[in-house]
Amino acid sequence: MDFEDVCALESIAPGTSRAVRAGDRDVALFNVDGTVHALDNACRHSGAALAGGKLCGRVVACPAHGWKYDVTTGALVVAPTLSVTRYPVRVADGRVFVGTGNAA
Ligand code: FES
Repeated sequence: MDFEDVCALESIAPGTSRAVRAGDRDVALFNVDGTVHALDNACRHSGAALAGGKLCGRVVACPAHGWKYDVTTGALVVAPTLSVTRYPVRVADGRVFVGTGNAA
């Protein structure tokens, strides 16, 4: 799997989120207590950017209509069988890398 260097770790403080580009994907990063999680940056309801949502613990609320996702799994809180794609994350040398899913 390819990993893309997407940003500096210091650019995403604990309790915050941000949007990045990884390969051809729009990705939302969330820092939960120092661990960075990556999800597809598009809500399953109507496509709003989840990186712009309010992060409370490990749950982000979509900024458009409030659907809530567990950012550690990508699952919709009220209906966990519905989820957004989750991407693997690595942190090295102060940089955040996101797995794009492409074969190496
Ligand atoms: S677009 Fe996310 S809840 Fe409607």
